[in-house]
Amino acid sequence: MKHGHAPGVWLGIESSCDESTVALFDPARGLIGEWISSQIALHGEYGGVVPELAVREHLKNFPILLAEASEHPDWPSVREIAVTTGPGLAGCLALGLSAAKAIALALEIPMAGVNHLRAHAWSPFIALHAAGPDSFQKRLGRLLPHAGLLVSGGNTALFVIHANRWIELLGGTIDDAAGEALDKGAKLLGLGYPGGPQVELLAREGDATAFDFPRALPNRGDLNFSFSGLKTSLRYRVAGLEDGEVLNRRCDLCASYQAAVLDVLVRKSMFAIEQSGARSLGLSGGVANNRALRDRLAALAEQKHVEFLPAQPRHTGDNAGMIAFAGWTDPAPRPADPLGWTIAPSLALDASPT
Ligand code: KG4
Repeated sequence: MKHGHAPGVWLGIESSCDESTVALFDPARGLIGEWISSQIALHGEYGGVVPELAVREHLKNFPILLAEASEHPDWPSVREIAVTTGPGLAGCLALGLSAAKAIALALEIPMAGVNHLRAHAWSPFIALHAAGPDSFQKRLGRLLPHAGLLVSGGNTALFVIHANRWIELLGGTIDDAAGEALDKGAKLLGLGYPGGPQVELLAREGDATAFDFPRALPNRGDLNFSFSGLKTSLRYRVAGLEDGEVLNRRCDLCASYQAAVLDVLVRKSMFAIEQSGARSLGLSGGVANNRALRDRLAALAEQKHVEFLPAQPRHTGDNAGMIAFAGWTDPAPRPADPLGWTIAPSLALDASPT
């Protein structure tokens, strides 16, 4: 157990975008319940998340999910709430935060606002905790400092979790996120959304050296990312090929394009390990599901003699499990008034929740 938290179960609530999700986390056992209602199919019809619709869906889903969670035998042991306060869609965040405040008032328990990006940063440690809750703090201590790569549809970041658990941002994207680059590349190749998984599948059948795509910002000292030049390069390649040729060479195009994205991610992760003296390397966010990326980072970790901690697939997307876990483990400062939390739609990875 950590820094003054009451013993007992944490209730996690996450509503920042298009998943309504609730979780119960027991620091003595790990995650003991996770409930999720995804809106992906609904928004898919519009080609992206429609905030107004997302809020209405959350409004419909949360009472159902919370009713299910309250049936859990450990619900009476809930002693603290962790809720995402940002970043995310303002209306969606406000709805989750209001629900959390109402439950905190009704149960007369404290609540903690959680930075969604920091929850991703901590997500690789969920499995480590679950494997041995009693020895977690000791094992965590041996894995810090930790270099982490967070790659999703909206974010790309390299950061360090220092020995005192504070998070320092080392670099981020100056234009597209890694997942966004894969999604936009997939669109140029006529593949559906989200494109990352489809690019990965076709890439397995292709030759990664068939096309030469640019790798941006290769300098050792610069841990920022840029993927817009790569995307433009693919656009020109595709424009220069006949329609039939694009289809015939789709696997090679996917393999070469994916390799360009992965090369940059792996190379910068190596610099991050070297700069920070990290003892472990983490991988989180939706693109963490990419097997080629996982394999390459596992190989890098081995070469650098650091432990590789990829987030489990069910904790790579929006999920309340990682929110509850971060509420417990991330030492962010809290407002004096336990109900004084407010939403922060543009919160950065290295900022405390508000
Ligand atoms: O974390 P996440 O659910 O998203 C948001 O930021 O909303 O991640 C979604 C992103 C999408 O860009 C998707 O293409 C990418 O993760 N993704 C993948 C794979 N699975 C999901 N990219 C590459 N390979 C995959 N297997």
